[in-house]
Amino acid sequence: MNILVIGTGYVGATTGLVFSEMGHKVTGLDLDKNKINKLEKGELHFFEPGLEEILKKHIDGENITFTTDPITAIKENEIIFICVGTPQDGDGSANLRYVKNVAETIGKYMNTYKVIVDKSTVPVGTAALVENWVKEYQKNDIPFDVVSNPEFLKEGSALQDALNPDRIVIGSLNEKATNMMKSLYKDFTCPIIITSPKAAELIKYAANSFLALKISYMNELARLCDVLDININDIAKGIGLDRRIGKYFLQAGIGYGGSCFPKDVNALLKTAKDSQVELTILNAAVNTNKTQVNYLLKKIKKVLGKLKGKTIGILGLTFKPNTDDMREAPALKVISLLLDAGAKVKVHDPVVKIGIKNVIQSDDVYQTLKDTDAVILCTEWEMYKNLDWLKMKSLVDSPIIFDGRNMLNKETVEKIGFDYYGIGN
Ligand code: UDX
Repeated sequence: MNILVIGTGYVGATTGLVFSEMGHKVTGLDLDKNKINKLEKGELHFFEPGLEEILKKHIDGENITFTTDPITAIKENEIIFICVGTPQDGDGSANLRYVKNVAETIGKYMNTYKVIVDKSTVPVGTAALVENWVKEYQKNDIPFDVVSNPEFLKEGSALQDALNPDRIVIGSLNEKATNMMKSLYKDFTCPIIITSPKAAELIKYAANSFLALKISYMNELARLCDVLDININDIAKGIGLDRRIGKYFLQAGIGYGGSCFPKDVNALLKTAKDSQVELTILNAAVNTNKTQVNYLLKKIKKVLGKLKGKTIGILGLTFKPNTDDMREAPALKVISLLLDAGAKVKVHDPVVKIGIKNVIQSDDVYQTLKDTDAVILCTEWEMYKNLDWLKMKSLVDSPIIFDGRNMLNKETVEKIGFDYYGIGN
């Protein structure tokens, strides 16, 4: 089938490449010439393991092409995926200006029947809005259907997630469109759920919010574990083996970040507020997440005393490993609280460089931690697992580790002579 993907960010690029991988002919459209120029050369404009190889393969095989010309792209493709960003507005709601622009452009240039698919995470009711926006710009009364098909991929494992999803959700009210979507996904082995577009839209928010709840619940339990001298990892294991609970997303730490959880949870809260429904549990989860970095800082102050004049080394900046994404990264909040408290901050990250005033960054992790009074691990990059802590001990001023991701082996580092403080551990 011929597919057009509009928006070539994380979701758009991955979606396009997954469909190329499944043997479809894909066109990637973006207004940003720089992005398209790079993609045409087989280069990604973001860091995502494994994706560039697939991109190069499909460019060479001509399964995927890129363009900035919406007119031809819309005319030549029957299925059009909307994969543009939906940034957060001041009131917490998702801003649909890019989705609206795309819908209007499709309306303007469509010449034959189209299935228009919302892949971006969009609030309940957006499919109906897209329908209206397309109609407003149509010159002739050409039929089309709008389908909601949310994407559940995670950054860092985008390709694997999109190739092997747990489920595919198709929100469609029209049989023809539903069948076209089903045949698009015919080689996928996971369950395909057909719902109304509104239900599909809510499924995405409900899933992300539920995962955020799981994390915040574990983070609160971790605070309790700290007081009771219990290891939160034992709790995660002990409850996670209950299949009704599930073992994933029970990892306590310094809180969730990224471009999705914080934004999507806020958007769902806004939708609920607009519907005069209070989601008290979700509100509580947001609050726990907001205070989790402060909880770490309190712990640090308890151990180190005043932070003024102390030098703190930070390991990991991104909101999670295997990505270069800094959006809502807890490390940024840690850094800002440390600076506010008068500490000197040195940072290391394997992929990201930040230019924050008064923060020293080094490519060498040992250099970063040299002469520090404490180390804080903010992102669980694999490379930090295998550091030479013996060498590190000879470099730091005082051997103290705060493991914000409960990643390191407490016993190992303690044996070497570090004081180790995890989160609920
Ligand atoms: C998330 C959803 O998982 C995905 O389905 C959706 O499509 C987009 O949003 P992503 O933002 O890429 O994906 O990251 P994810 O791996 O879910 O992690 C989000 C945050 O939660 C990270 O900051 C991570 O460190 C944190 N986290 C995750 C925890 O603190 N504990 C956990 O157990 C899991």
